[in-house]
Amino acid sequence: MTPTPSIFDPVSTPAFAIRELSFLVFGITGVIFVVVAGLAVYTLVRFRGRRRAGDERREPPQIYGSTQIEIAWTVVPLLVVVVLFLVTARYIYGLERREVPAGALEVTIVGNQWWWEIRYPGLGIVTANELHVPVSDPSRPTPTFLTLQSTDVVHSFWVPQLAGKMDVIPNKTNRMWIDPQTPGVYVGQCAEYCGTQHAWMLLLVVVHPRDEFDRWVAAQHAPAREDPAVRAGYQLFLSLACINCHTVRGTPANGVFGPDLTHLMSRRTIAAGAASNTREALRAWVDDPASIKPGALMPAMKLSSDELNWLTAYLLTLR
Ligand code: CUA
Repeated sequence: MTPTPSIFDPVSTPAFAIRELSFLVFGITGVIFVVVAGLAVYTLVRFRGRRRAGDERREPPQIYGSTQIEIAWTVVPLLVVVVLFLVTARYIYGLERREVPAGALEVTIVGNQWWWEIRYPGLGIVTANELHVPVSDPSRPTPTFLTLQSTDVVHSFWVPQLAGKMDVIPNKTNRMWIDPQTPGVYVGQCAEYCGTQHAWMLLLVVVHPRDEFDRWVAAQHAPAREDPAVRAGYQLFLSLACINCHTVRGTPANGVFGPDLTHLMSRRTIAAGAASNTREALRAWVDDPASIKPGALMPAMKLSSDELNWLTAYLLTLR
């Protein structure tokens, strides 16, 4: 099972930094809370029932203006804010200053309504909604540097256990990095409202031991499988508008508007986490994407039941 995405369960340097910083902030605000709430409770208890004791006419001493108190409640919050500002600035600077070391992996992530395209320019791999990276051993770090771009509106890339949020903005390239130190699967989520299916713009980060990552790269490199048993589905796929939006490497399908399908079945989910990648879900998705994800830009193809079966059978061979 994938762990709950929590900033208190970090596995990567930027996320460790965020947890440290949040403990400091909770510490300071916790002390302020205890002092303020403590004084309030003390006052309530201490002066409770005074007016019932028979001295209604007498009020407590009234103070009009006190320079000492004014200075105290101005200077103390100011100091707290300055401390938080400086500490935060130091953390941000430390993270952003990191140079790209030799052996770092470069990945470009492109936000789309409502899915993530994931490109490995150095490896010639294109996939979607699942970022695969090697584990980064602190003694021999192999961090992954991410270049973030958007084709349409503002999205935000956020995998709480790996790093802070980074907005994904049209016509602007943002950079961030992660160095996950524990293999596993980490859940991410678009963190900037980007339209009706913003909530279904999930992503998974799969952190592999090095040899497992190399095997994944090799498998993704291979062109799409050809299986004569699904000829009917393959022909149908090529005859439909599918190929205008989707790429299947090694076939005439070379669209780039939707996710690359060359190794579709290597992914755990479809529609950016809206459904598990099963035969039934794939068939329902091709039949009518809006039944799973209303507003999805892929149109319903209006296929017969047989055609849906052929097409699904073909898609299932794209391992
Ligand atoms: Cu993309 Cu919210």
